[in-house]
Parts: sequence; C-alpha cells; structure tokens
Amino acid sequence: MTGYRLTVLAGDGTGPEVIAEALRVIEVFQQNSPISFEITEIPCGGQYYLETGEEWPEGSFEHCRDNSDAILLGAIGWPDARLPNGDMAGGQVILGLRSGLKLYANVRPIKLYPGVQHKVHGVHQQVWQPDMVDMVMIRENTEGLYHSLLRRMEQKAKGEKDEPIVIEEFPGLEGEVEWDPRPISRKGSERVINFAFDLARHRQRKMGVSQSVTCVDKSNVTRGCRLFRGIFKEISEQNPDIETDAAYIDAFTMWLMRDPEDLDVVVLPNMFGDIATDLASVLQGGLGMAASANLGPKHMMFEPVHGSAPKYTGKNVVNPIATLQSVQMMFEALAYRKKDDDLDMCADILQQAIQQHFEEGGLVTYDLGGDASTSQVGQAIADRCEEMLRERFATA
Ligand code: IPM
Ligand code: MN
Repeated sequence: MTGYRLTVLAGDGTGPEVIAEALRVIEVFQQNSPISFEITEIPCGGQYYLETGEEWPEGSFEHCRDNSDAILLGAIGWPDARLPNGDMAGGQVILGLRSGLKLYANVRPIKLYPGVQHKVHGVHQQVWQPDMVDMVMIRENTEGLYHSLLRRMEQKAKGEKDEPIVIEEFPGLEGEVEWDPRPISRKGSERVINFAFDLARHRQRKMGVSQSVTCVDKSNVTRGCRLFRGIFKEISEQNPDIETDAAYIDAFTMWLMRDPEDLDVVVLPNMFGDIATDLASVLQGGLGMAASANLGPKHMMFEPVHGSAPKYTGKNVVNPIATLQSVQMMFEALAYRKKDDDLDMCADILQQAIQQHFEEGGLVTYDLGGDASTSQVGQAIADRCEEMLRERFATA
C-alpha cells in the first residue's frame, strides 16, 4: 500500500523533543504493521522566524493544504518572537492552518487514566476517580476573538496595510484604546455544534453509555454568544435523542472542577475553549496529558495542547504523552476517514499501550511526580507498542 502523507511541524521550544518521540513511535508502527507514512518535516515557528525572518519556508501552507493527509504539530510560540506589527511570530502556522484549512472543530479529550496522579495545590494526589473524568471539549477553532489577528494576517498576505475596523467611539472610555472584535457567525456555530452532537452519538455507540452535549457561553452578556446559544437550542431540537445542558462560562469553570462526572461532550466558542481546556487538563494530570485534533471537512491536524514550554526547552524532561495521544487521535481519525482497518487496529494498540503504561506504574516525567526523561517515556511506549504489534501481526 502507499503511505499516508504526513507533514510534521515540530516548531518551537520543546516541540521538537516531543515530536521526536512521536516519530519514534510511528516508526515502530511502520516496522511492525502494514501501515506506512511518507513524512515531510517543515521547520517553522517563532524561533525559525528569529533566524530567518520567515515563519516557515514559502510554499509550506500549500504543502499542508495540497500534499498532506494529516499534519502533526509540536508547539508554536517563543518569547520575544514578534512580527513587526507586534503579533506572535508563528501565528501563521498554527492559527493560519486552523483557519486556512477550515479546521473548525478543535477536539480536546479530557480523560483521567487509572494510575495517573494529578497535581493539586503542589502535591500529587488523586482527587478525582478515573471514572469521573472522561469528557471531550469541542472548541470552535476559526472565529471569535481570534478573528482580528487572522484578519491582520490576511491583510499582510495580500500586501495590504493593517487597517482597523472603523468604529466611531467607545462611550465611557478615555485615552488609548485597543480592541478586538469577536464575530461569531451562524455558519461557524452550526458546523461546530453539529460536530458536537455527531461526536456524542459516536461516543454513545462506542461506549454504550448515553452522552450529553453541554453548551458553554456568555449569552447573558454578549451578542455573539446569544447567537451561539440560539443555534445550540435549534440543533438540540433536531437531536431529541441527545440530552443537552447549557452554562455560562464563569459558572461552568466551577462546575467543571466540582462535578466533572456530569460532563460528556462540551462545545464552546474559540477563546473560552482555549481557556477551559487548559483548566480541564488539571483533571487528567496536567497539560502534559492533554492531546488535541483540529478537524475540518478535508484536512486534519494534531497537536499537544501544552505549547512550547520555553523554560524546559532542551532539557529532555517534558511529558511526551500529550503528543503520543495526539498521534493516537491521528491514527483513529485517519482510519475512520480512509476506512482503514489496519490503521484502526494500530489506533487501538497505541491507546492500550498508553493506558497500560499508567495502569502498570510505568515511568513518568516530573509533571506526574516521576523523574523519567521525555525519551525514556517515549521509548517505554514504543516498546509496549512493538510487543503488542508483534503479537498481532506475527502471522500476517
Ligand atoms: C492553543 C494555544 C494557541 C491558541 C496559541 C499558541 C496561539 O494556546 O492551542 O491552545 O491560543 O489557540
Ligand atoms: Mn491554549
């Protein structure tokens, strides 16, 4: 068979370190199963910008758009790496791809594995039981508060001047004012909310447990959220078999920490989703455990939620599990889209390897209370996968 075209963007800071572990694990699957990938690595990000004056080589976006079945991203963002207009250098890579490839659903699972201790108030402990934490947050990924930065990027790409949207005045405000419009559209809301309901149904089938969808917004105050909530209500009525709930973002954050077992699928506008998923990662052992998929009608991109973690860069200490779990999501999503049973089996194997690693008290990095290195954890998962793959494909 021909390989899937995989574009790898390691990016900034600890991005390359966690991506190295992803490539190690992918290689084990290529060596021991029928699946294969044609891998293209593209340098990019804020550090690349400081070295070259470009966020990534010319033609990179087109490569991601036209020659990739999937994209794997490490991390983007480096202190002081700023474009002349003050925006973050590397934004074109992460935010440009999310918007330019219409990756409107940012899927962020929050699942606590048995054996994982989470850090609360400075100590590693187990506050939540694993069966209490198993939800997926769907963050709208292309509009809202991110829109004005995306608009500036588009203006720059077209060689236009960065022209602010004209507004007459901000009554009651004095002196210097900067502002970001937060447009939320019907079309953008419909597609992401429909995605959330489809996912709830998919999980219902897979897990055999009923799944609710919760809408999180601030519709008591903002108009964009009022539209979002209204569309959520319309779509709820079209899906009477799915239980629904809704909350304002402020109360939701309390509810999330207090009763995580109430939540299954949660859908949120862009910036609320950005914030709520970092908070929710505490429930699953921290950002080192938080994986994500950016999905659109034609394209898909996978990345750990944690970002570049500058202060840990080059130390080989960060947790590679968020990235390996993102690879697992990539196997699963590609298998689903391409109807590839072998790849689906590989997704199951990687899932089991990660889960068993924690259940059996495998090596963990500092964030989970251990002292193992990034590469030791990556190697341990790779070894487990290899063993399971040998068993599964031995006679094939
Ligand atoms: C994330 C990150 C990004 C975002 C940054 C790096 C632009 O925080 O993926 O959650 O704000 O979406
Ligand atoms: Mn974030």
